[in-house]
Amino acid sequence: MMNIAVLVSGGGTNLQALIDAQKSGIITNGKITCVISSNPNAYALERAKQNGIKTVVLNRKDYDDVHKYSADLRDILLEEKADLVVYAGFMTILDEQVVKAFPNKMMNVHPALIPSFCGKGFYGLHVHEAVLESGVKLTGATVHFVTEECDGGPIILQKGVEVQNGDTPEILQKRVMEQAEWKILPEAVSLFCNGRIKVNGKITEII
Ligand code: GAR
Repeated sequence: MMNIAVLVSGGGTNLQALIDAQKSGIITNGKITCVISSNPNAYALERAKQNGIKTVVLNRKDYDDVHKYSADLRDILLEEKADLVVYAGFMTILDEQVVKAFPNKMMNVHPALIPSFCGKGFYGLHVHEAVLESGVKLTGATVHFVTEECDGGPIILQKGVEVQNGDTPEILQKRVMEQAEWKILPEAVSLFCNGRIKVNGKITEII
């Protein structure tokens, strides 16, 4: 059984999808053992507590620099014996110390079809604003491994979602979450926990 640590910063609907998937047996061979938040007021912490999951707050605002923050977070993840680290709406960019400690063992859900609408500055609602401004008719979500390049790691799963007339960033965000993120994130976690993701450079293969 793999220990899954989930990193959060906000509402935690992706964390909820993981908790629900664990309960319903969609995630096998893995258990969420700890939820770590960069924000002490994140509602995600309530969701974890309601489900009896250990919570840790590592407030980004308590740190002047990203290096010390990353080192402390890495140490917590090592102490927790995390086999998999999931960024579920985690809005803090970490330095290479964390990635080096967990190579191809950290995954992130991004609310667009990478390599479009990703990288620095593309997070949360900003992603959907940019999608709507661009006029694309298809967006979606991506689950990928975390590397030192922001949103640049090997892609595990993607799912497309239609942009519709009259969409606002909020409406589109909800559709992308419901139709894509909440489905492919638990699926990718379960694939990982069952040793079914083979990584070869930038390319992953589901085996
Ligand atoms: C989600 O849409 C997630 O994909 C996005 O923030 C939202 C968090 O919602 N993450 C990023 O933009 C990271 N670059 P949640 O807290 O309800 O899961």
